[in-house]
Amino acid sequence: MTNATPRPSFLAAALLSWYPRHQRDLPWRHTRDPYAIWLSEVILQQTRVAQGLPYYETFLSAYPTVQQLAAAPEAEVLRYWQGLGYYSRARNMHHTAQQVVNEFGGRFPGTYAGLLRLRGVGPYTAAAIASFAFDEAVAVLDGNVYRVLARIFGLHSDIAAPSSRKEFQALADQHIPASTPAEFNQAIMEFGALQCTPLKPDCLFCPLQSPCWAFQHGQVALLPVKSKAKASRTRYFHYFVLRHGEQTYLRERREKDIWQGLYDFALAETTVPALPPAELLHHLEALGAHLDASQAAEPSPAYRHILSHQKLEVRFHPLTLTQPLPASALRDLGLQAYSTDEIEALPKPKLIANYCSQHGY
Ligand code: ADE
Ligand code: SF4
Repeated sequence: MTNATPRPSFLAAALLSWYPRHQRDLPWRHTRDPYAIWLSEVILQQTRVAQGLPYYETFLSAYPTVQQLAAAPEAEVLRYWQGLGYYSRARNMHHTAQQVVNEFGGRFPGTYAGLLRLRGVGPYTAAAIASFAFDEAVAVLDGNVYRVLARIFGLHSDIAAPSSRKEFQALADQHIPASTPAEFNQAIMEFGALQCTPLKPDCLFCPLQSPCWAFQHGQVALLPVKSKAKASRTRYFHYFVLRHGEQTYLRERREKDIWQGLYDFALAETTVPALPPAELLHHLEALGAHLDASQAAEPSPAYRHILSHQKLEVRFHPLTLTQPLPASALRDLGLQAYSTDEIEALPKPKLIANYCSQHGY
């Protein structure tokens, strides 16, 4: 034969036959709009489909175009994101929207290489947009894809090591068909999500059973190899929920730390679980707070909140003020008094949002 069509990959053939019979009907699979695809992929990083779906719909209704997202205030974007976690995704996304508008005339770059120049767009997202929107034959690599490839091909490289990426990428790029790259990418991710799952893959009814290295060698449970993430540290947060009349004091988190751009209360952080009484007094003095002496200053029980690399143990100290906070405290701590309606509209960490709604403010 003289034609240059490569031999069809056994992997592509199996996945492309499996996919139409098993795929979930998901809204981002019906669009070729790079903006909508990008939005869906940013949401689905670190977030399960069931949890991400309503956010996708809400975001796309609020900001149907990249121009509209770019023009929105950051606090509003974060408010729509509230509850999804990993808030830097939302801030990066907002910035990227502005970059697309200002540097690219409102059009997403049409190639993998071009997409990589956008903030917060790494190899995974660039490959997803390039293949789904522009039919470029570049393979996506996410956790699902790593697992499928490691098992089928018997790859024992640590998928948590950045150096493994090249090996997996090269392999996936070898198998992605030039004619249907979008379907291949959706199919391999969906296969990992539904068939070749982390804990109980459905090997008995798997179309790839016979070529699958892990199945044939009884090593399905051992692959992929993934080194453990480093132990997460525990932080102890003590929030002063300062109230005066119907108003509550919150502040925007400006530090380079978790929850940047979100709003919470005046905060003292300690290295031990309890806030020593002397420290509590010190903080209240620094606030210049006039307290209603009749109130019990009992802190709430500890709320535990788990983030990707940190565990938080959070206690709330509700404090009723007899006078508004002095201007110096507002300035030094960035606090501001808000009504219940205003608080509702502020972007807040889930923990703070829950606390406010449970207490009626
Ligand atoms: N997770 C990440 N991207 C996805 C997609 N396009 N479809 C389903 N799940 C996904
Ligand atoms: Fe995955 Fe099992 Fe199928 Fe191999 S046989 S691809 S491990 S589901």
